[in-house]
This record gives sequence, C-alpha cells and structure tokens, in this order.
Amino acid sequence: MKKDNILRFTPNNSHNFLEILKRFSNKKIAVIGDLMLDKYVYGEVERISQEAPIPIIRVTDEKYAPGGAANVAANISTLGGDAFLFGIVGNDYYKDILLDKLYSLEISTDGILTNTKKNTVLKTRIIGLEQQLLRMDKENIEYIGDQFVEKLLTNLKDVDDLSAIIISDYAKGTITEDLLKGVKEFAQKNNITVIVDPKPKHYAWYKGVTLITPNRNESQKITGFNIENEDSIKKAGKKIQEDLNSNIIMTAGNIGMYVFEKGKEPIHIPAVAREVYDVTGAGDTVVAALALALSCGAGLSDAAVISNIAAGIKVGKVGTAPVHMEELQKSFE
Ligand SMILES: Nc1ncnc2c1ncn2[C@@H]1O[C@H](COP(=O)(O)OP(=O)(O)OP(=O)(O)O)[C@@H](O)[C@H]1O
Ligand SMILES: [Mg+2]
Repeated sequence: MKKDNILRFTPNNSHNFLEILKRFSNKKIAVIGDLMLDKYVYGEVERISQEAPIPIIRVTDEKYAPGGAANVAANISTLGGDAFLFGIVGNDYYKDILLDKLYSLEISTDGILTNTKKNTVLKTRIIGLEQQLLRMDKENIEYIGDQFVEKLLTNLKDVDDLSAIIISDYAKGTITEDLLKGVKEFAQKNNITVIVDPKPKHYAWYKGVTLITPNRNESQKITGFNIENEDSIKKAGKKIQEDLNSNIIMTAGNIGMYVFEKGKEPIHIPAVAREVYDVTGAGDTVVAALALALSCGAGLSDAAVISNIAAGIKVGKVGTAPVHMEELQKSFE
C-alpha cells in the first residue's frame, strides 16, 4: 500500500475542539431530505411455525426512532443546534409517530409536507435471538412533483439566519434536480454552507456544493474505481472532488475518514477505537456534526475530527440513535 501524500491527522490541542463545541448551541441548521421512521420490534423466538419454516416471535417490545433525514435532524438537536427539517410524509399513522418524536426532540417541523400519494417511509426491523431476523421497508420512491419542490423551497426560504443546509439524500424521491438547484441558488445568495450526504445516482446534481460525504461504497459506484486500499481511496476522492468542484469527506467505516479539501493534500483521520455495536446511522451523525462544526468556523479537518469522534460514539449505541453534546464533550476532555 502506497502511503505517500496522505497526511495522518495528529491531535494537537483538544482545548480548541472544546471551544468549537461550546459554540454549537443554537446554530440554525436546515436538513432537507428523505424522512423515515425506524421501527424496532423485539421478541423471543419460541418455536417454528407450522405454516412455513419460519420462527414465531413473541413480541416483547416495540420502539420507534426518526430515521434518514429525520435522524440527521435528531443529531443536530441533541448536539445542541436548532434543527429545521424539510421533507415529505404520507397521510398515515406513522406520520403522527414521526412528528411526535421530532416534536419531543424540539426539531422544527414547519417545513414538512404531507403528500397523500406517498406513505411515510417506514423501516421495520424484527429482532429476536439478539439479531435482526427480518427488515421490511415500506416506501414509495417516486420523485415528488413541482408543487412539492416549490413549497419545500418556500418553506426553506422562510427560515432566517441559517448557517448550514444539509441535503440527506436516500434516493426515496424527495431530492430532485430542481430542488437541489433551488437550494444551491438560495445558499449561494445567502452565503450558507451546503453539505450533501449523497446517493450515487444523483451524483451530477451535487456539483458546486460546499461539501459531500460519500462512504466507500458510494465512492466506488460514483467513480467506477475498485476501492481496496489507500491509493484507490485517494484517487477516487480526488476524482470526485475535481468532478464536482466540492470538498469531499469520504467515510470509510472502521478505518475512519479521508478529507479531500480543495487545493490541499488528503488527510486520513483514523476511526476512534471502541466497542462497535451497530453502525446504522453513523453517516447521519457525521453530517450533523460537520454542519455544526463548520457553522462555528471550524476548518474542514477540525470539523472532520469532531464528526469522526461523534460517529465513534454512535457506533457504540444500538439502533438508530443520536449523539448528545455531553457525550461528545466528554470524549474531548
Ligand atoms: N466499525 C467502526 N468502528 C469505528 N468507527 C466506525 C465504524 N463504522 C463507522 N464508524 C465511524 O462512522 C463513520 C461513518 O461510517 P460509514 O463510513 O460506515 O458511513 P455510512 O456507510 O454512510 O453509514 P450509514 O449510511 O450506515 O449511516 C466513519 O467515518 C467512522 O468515523
Ligand atoms: Mg450513509
């Protein structure tokens, strides 16, 4: 593995990081994207069904958590920021559960629209014998129409003093080319940072945003490169950065993340060693922490260090769960 031209991040002064964290509070961050509700059904496996060769679960508990873009907003809120959430729900039972969860997290839901032609995206995980037995996705991934795009943009423009906008794209139909055009135009006029958690199929639409955070798999799909070592990570990161004229942070699971800042050499930030229980939603924590840190004037690599530590806390939690400011502060102390 060639290691030339990759700088390793070496922690310098944790005091500076704590100063940045102190400024997170009340930063106004918009999150636009695919809203989801995660449902967890826990149970005990008692016997095998007589109807089919499948286990019968006796349900012991059910839990709900905001997912997708809603989980990004949850992280903004628990990290001390003011989250404004924009997206689509269906006119159904799960919409109420999601809105209730968002309300208790003090997330502004004024920008959320109901589309009677869609259902609220629901991901149900059934857990027995301490493992996932089944996941069911209820979704309708058609792109939203012009009227919804216009209304989302109008709602977004109603919020004053935004310091960053996060596009949380899970390719469930909320993020369209026109919506992105409108967001970029608004952000440019008002000098607002735009961060995209991307999906490969919408690659070209992200051109010119401040920062994009593909994971390894997404980077591989975007570039067509076989990403198997640091050399290929570096090539892929540089290619995406040059193609889209944006800064790139490539997240790389248990090896941490790579920062490709315009005009600078790439930097590797190793994952923080800790017990790993569940990596779902780690990417959501990353974009939320990045948006807040950048809004506080942190440089890209310092923001990345903060988001990497926040994601390290997330993977120690089970299920979709946001990271709290106190936990983050403790990690730096
Ligand atoms: N196994 C792990 N050990 C330590 N840190 C991890 C691990 N997995 C993920 N992380 C942290 O989480 C960050 C994001 O993880 P990853 O690259 O898997 O993103 P992702 O695939 O977009 O996640 P998701 O889409 O599930 O939210 C990593 O950059 C790293 O900081
Ligand atoms: Mg992701």
